[in-house]
Amino acid sequence: MKFIHLTDPHIVARPQKIFDLDVHARLEAAIASINANFADAELCMVTGDISHWGEPDSYGEFVEILNGLTIPWHPLIGNHDARATMRAALPDAPWTDEGFLQYALETSAGEFLVLDTLDDGRNTGYLCEKRLRWLRERLLETQDQGRDVFLFMHHPPFDSGIHAMDMIGMRNKPDLAAVVQGFAHIRHLFFGHLHRTCHGSWNGLPFSTVKATSHQVATVLGDASPLVCSTENPAYAVALIDRDTVVIHDHSYMEEDTAFVYDRGVPKGQDAPPEHQKSWS
Ligand SMILES: [Fe+2]
Ligand SMILES: [Fe+2]
Repeated sequence: MKFIHLTDPHIVARPQKIFDLDVHARLEAAIASINANFADAELCMVTGDISHWGEPDSYGEFVEILNGLTIPWHPLIGNHDARATMRAALPDAPWTDEGFLQYALETSAGEFLVLDTLDDGRNTGYLCEKRLRWLRERLLETQDQGRDVFLFMHHPPFDSGIHAMDMIGMRNKPDLAAVVQGFAHIRHLFFGHLHRTCHGSWNGLPFSTVKATSHQVATVLGDASPLVCSTENPAYAVALIDRDTVVIHDHSYMEEDTAFVYDRGVPKGQDAPPEHQKSWS
């Protein structure tokens, strides 16, 4: 099973820009690249911060761009998103009766459980009792059914070491840790928010995120308090899942024109490869 992980488009109403970046062009280039290279993916997950300021036009423009995708796409809500405005722009998304964008998605790799970590009115993330209870129920049910689960959320549930981002991390990390503890059928956690490639494991659960399609966060670790960003090129991730493996490729889609076909060649001034490489295929 193949799917696309795209995150943090931070769309603003045209003709605005953020940090002098054309976030529309960056997202459009991602969509064109997915259509050209990975149209056989099953779906695309967009892990939050759809809008930068949360204004209605930004959501309309996001939907217009995403509708250019030839594969289905599924949104998450992030701290930059305005719940009511996003809901008005995406009325067909699976909002709960309480107004959360939290849902389960059937895929050929298993169940994708999408969490709503929006801590309304704050930049931090939060999962209230209701959202945690829903997650626990889904985990128990899928465990009973012997099905695999993949978790999706905007905020990472741990500190990344990038202090300024950790200051706007999840407020109740231990509560989520307590819910997911012991569920061995959760195979991977995907999140957004960090605007930086990052992968590893959390309490034994493998995780990953990918660069934003908008601006990036610089790798400034330690206690430096200002949030240092960067205009380096964006990426999206291509996840390949089968019974035994979860493989994730970050694709730097604005540098596709730098690709070349590998030619081993020979050392300068010689007509054959070095001795130890002669039998290489
Ligand atoms: Fe973001
Ligand atoms: Fe965020």
